[in-house]
Amino acid sequence: MKLIVANFKMNKNSIEMSEYLQKVSNASFSNKIVLLPSLSNLFLNAIYSNENIEYGVQNFFFKDEGNFTGEVNLTMLEGMNVKYALIGHQERRKQFKESNATINKKILYALEKGVTPILCIGESFGQTKNNLYKAHLKRQLSLALKGVKISDLEKIIIAYEPTYSIGAENAADLLYVESNIMLIKDFINSKSAKTQINSKVLYGGSINLDNYKKYLDSEYIDGLLVGRAILEADNLIEIGK
Ligand code: PGA
Repeated sequence: MKLIVANFKMNKNSIEMSEYLQKVSNASFSNKIVLLPSLSNLFLNAIYSNENIEYGVQNFFFKDEGNFTGEVNLTMLEGMNVKYALIGHQERRKQFKESNATINKKILYALEKGVTPILCIGESFGQTKNNLYKAHLKRQLSLALKGVKISDLEKIIIAYEPTYSIGAENAADLLYVESNIMLIKDFINSKSAKTQINSKVLYGGSINLDNYKKYLDSEYIDGLLVGRAILEADNLIEIGK
């Protein structure tokens, strides 16, 4: 069973999302599905359920209370079935200037609240071209995972997304993705001399109905993070079936 994480980004009003959830909650899945709707649509998860569907958030703030106008923390979402939280997505790093230090605070906060972090990392086209991607991925991991207990490392899901494959025409090359996923798993595993750390690593970036099988069939890839393609309920049903 692999993990399919559906990132709705800033799409669908509550009527559209109700229709969507009605459809997918009646489908059967062999993979585990994690839906990340907008915060405004999160309440709908109390209405539509399916044994293979769980919910999470695309973002949150990492303090328990205070003068942070417009922000929502994970304590405020208790009782709303939030099992996962996306952290460090490229769109937040770029458009909302989220630093590795902020991402690290969010990881530690989510773990403290018992919510599974889905940490997004990925290199730019220039870093790939100039052979700087390995160092970049290791640096992103080191900074994001600073201070995380060895026993908590396995709880964190990594979503590997080269930035140039997100919202693009083509997904990244499968062999390239597999080798970077191995690098990520080895890097996390090297944090403990004693115990084996079995991290789950997903691939994300321009997954669609034509290419998803190739990535899901890979023994190295534990699942997919999908944006545009899952906006159609039928596509999610197909990818997750
Ligand atoms: P995409 O988005 O599937 O539309 O490329 C992926 C993502 O943003 O994680």
